[in-house]
This record gives sequence, C-alpha cells and structure tokens, in this order.
Amino acid sequence: MERIIIEGGIPLKGTLRVNGAKNSAVALLAAAALTDEEVVLDNLPEIVDVFVMIDILKAIGMKVTRRGKFEWHIAAGDHLNYQTPSDIAVKLRASYYFLGSLLAKKGKVNVALPGGCQIGARPIDQHLKGFTALNATHLLEDDQVKLNTEHLKGGHVFFDMSTVGATINVMLAASMAEGTTIMENAALEPEVIDVANFINAMGGSVRGAGTETIRVTGVKRFGSCVYSCIPDRIEAGTFMFAAAASGGDVTLSNVIPEHLDAVVAKLRESGQEIDVTLDTIRVKANPNPQAVNIKTLPHPGFPTDLQAPAMAFLALAQGESQFHETIYESRFGHAEELNRMGANITVNGQRAVAQGVEGYVGAEVTATNLRAGASLVIAGLAAQGTTYVAGVEHIDRGYDRIVDRLQSLGAKIRRESRPNWPKIV
Ligand code: EPU
Repeated sequence: MERIIIEGGIPLKGTLRVNGAKNSAVALLAAAALTDEEVVLDNLPEIVDVFVMIDILKAIGMKVTRRGKFEWHIAAGDHLNYQTPSDIAVKLRASYYFLGSLLAKKGKVNVALPGGCQIGARPIDQHLKGFTALNATHLLEDDQVKLNTEHLKGGHVFFDMSTVGATINVMLAASMAEGTTIMENAALEPEVIDVANFINAMGGSVRGAGTETIRVTGVKRFGSCVYSCIPDRIEAGTFMFAAAASGGDVTLSNVIPEHLDAVVAKLRESGQEIDVTLDTIRVKANPNPQAVNIKTLPHPGFPTDLQAPAMAFLALAQGESQFHETIYESRFGHAEELNRMGANITVNGQRAVAQGVEGYVGAEVTATNLRAGASLVIAGLAAQGTTYVAGVEHIDRGYDRIVDRLQSLGAKIRRESRPNWPKIV
C-alpha cells in the first residue's frame, strides 16, 4: 500500500512519449493464445493489467518471454489449458478476453467472472449472446463463466449497445469459427481496430473493424507475426488535461491525433492552444480556461475514461461545466475527493455540475478507481500545497510509471510506502 505525494502549483513543461494502449494491450495478449507459433507483441505498456494478463497466459501453458522494456515473445506451449486461474483472472476485467480466444482455440473455456474498476454494473450479456450465436453454450457456475461448443460456427450478432469488450470478444471467437460471422452495431473504438489488425497479421480474416459492421471469416490455424500496439489515447488525454490544469506547455509524442479529436475539441473550446502534427500534440495552457460541457459517448465521442481527468481540469474553469456520463451509472466517485481539495461539484445520478473555483488546495484524498486516481493526481499538480493520493494500486493498473514521467515534466511528485507516512498536522 503506497501513496503519491505532490507539491502542486508547478506548470508541467517538456516532451513526453505516450506508451502503448492498456485497453488494446490486454486484448492483444488474450488474442496471442490463438496461435500455435510465436508472435512478438511490441509497445506494450509496463502496467499491472498487462502483467496480470501475462500471468494468465503463462498459467494456461503459453511460453512468454520479455525482450526489452516493451517487447514480449509469446509462443504456444505443449498443452493449452482451457481453465484459467480464477485467483488471477478476478484481478481485472480484461481476463474475459480469454473467453473468446480459448473458446476459439479449445472449444471450451472457464474464466472467473470479471473484476475491474467499480464504476457500474458492467454485465456481459452481449458477450454471451455473441458466443451463443456462434453455437456455444454458457453456464455461470462457481463464480465462473463456462463456455462449451461441439463446433464453433459463424453467426449473425446484433449488439444492443456499443460495447468494446463484446465486439472484441466475439471477434476473437469468430476468428476460428467455421464460416463467416457478421457483427452489427459493433464498437468503433481504435482498440477494436488494433485487435482486428493483429488477428489479420497472424493470418486471420477480419474486415470492417472501425465501422459498425464487422465480418470475420474463421481460419483453421494462425501463424506468427510481429505486431506493435497502438499508443494509449487515454494516457495521452490524461497528460493533456494535466498540462492544461497545471498551466503548462507539454508536447506528447507517439500519439495518433485522430484518436483524440473529441479531447482536442474540448480543450480548444475551453481556450487552450493545441498544436497537432502527424504524431504529436502540444498543449499550451490558457491561464483563464472557460467552462465547457462534457457528454461521454462511444468513440468517436468524448471517452468515458477521460471524464474524470477532464473534470479535474474543468473544476478550475471560469463558469459552469456540465457533465453527462452516459456509459456508466456510477463514475463520479472522484467528484467528492476533488471537492475535498476545494472544487465545487454537485453530482446528481449520471450528471454533475462543476462551478469553477480559483484553485485547488492540497489535501489527503483516495483514488477509488483508475481514472479517478488520475484525476486526483491532476488536481494535485494544480493545487497549492501538498496533496496525498492513496489508492495508488488503482493508478498502477493503467499508468506506466506516472510519477517518474510527471517528474520528467518538472512536477514535484514522489511515491511513498504507507509505513513511512509522515504524520499530517
Ligand atoms: N455493457 C452491457 N452488456 C455487455 C457489455 C457491455 O450492458 O455485455 C454495457 C456496459 O455496462 C457499459 C457499456 O455497455 O455501460 C459499454 O461497455 P463496454 O463493453 O464498451 O466496456 P468494457 O469493454 O467493459 C472497455 C474498457 C473501459 C472503457 C470502456 C468504454 C477495457 C479492458 N476496458 O470496457 O476502460 O471504459 O471499454 O470505452 O478495455 C478504463 O480503462 O478505465 C476502463 C474502464
């Protein structure tokens, strides 16, 4: 149990390379179980969720070797187990991607019901509906999802809502099913396209990823490939809001700017100066940011994962910023903590209103989930005085060495083990 300590009020300045995307990396790792040969996955971020997925791969019998900071070699072992280790799988939500890949590969799979951030009900009915359409049966038993099929066959799936997880999961299962699967109302997120590209690089046939209709034609075997994970648009967006909130001037490299159109638009609307090149984004803060409204939506709308970081910034903007969280029922846990630092945010169900305040004051706050943690770090960077952020284990799930990287931008930030905590007076 550790905490992050921030001496705030220093504008972030400099250049930072954005790492690989968490939500792609975790799906690519599960997809690697599809092949009998060796695949190389590059640009995977060094985060807890990636290490947990690698632990699951090893536990089911895959050989996984790390070569260099971001590069992993993954090869089939002698025997692939359809039973994933429940004690590891419950640690994160993305373990459910083994449902798709192991169903395809083994015709049978057991995965513990998924964990992950507590931000709403997060059912998996759309995943199960898709597997059923592919001729698999499911059973919920002993807190596990158990899938089975005599023969996986292509099917027709219409998703009731835009869901990243179910789109990727059904795509993974369909990649080895006999015949063609058509998925309609598929999610448009860049991570869906990334997984489709990886499946195709291994010799699969996925067409239409990035549109609402995806066609997957199953193949019998997959081969080897070298594949690089896309940059993390959520990490990039987090640093963009941190730059704006701290009054800084930060250039992010290794970004795909089109993935961040909604974020760039909102920052510009609030008065920030944003320069975009082919693969960099520079944020030059405006000392008098204006309030803007945020409604979270599936891609290409404003991403729910950046609602909390955006709120940390907009709570300091002049005027009233309104937030409408349409993806999750309870993703405003950070508002109360931001209020402890001086924000004036009122939450009402899936809506929140921030009346802009002059500034934050350092306080002791607790991250209750990954993106809430990021928002508290942003507030701490902007605050006068010292901020102590507990719940660092949530932040470590998705941000690669956030403390070191913010230090490289001039922030006075460090992390400390709980036993060494000084008494706060
Ligand atoms: N939904 C259902 N039934 C389903 C699947 C989804 O009702 O079978 C609902 C969800 O409850 C939610 C909405 O559909 O209200 C969208 O869920 P989606 O399936 O898109 O989310 P996810 O795949 O579980 C991923 C990311 C989340 C991110 C969402 C939305 C991973 C591992 N997680 O979750 O990331 O918020 O897509 O973009 O890829 C994060 O990184 O902090 C994070 C929570």
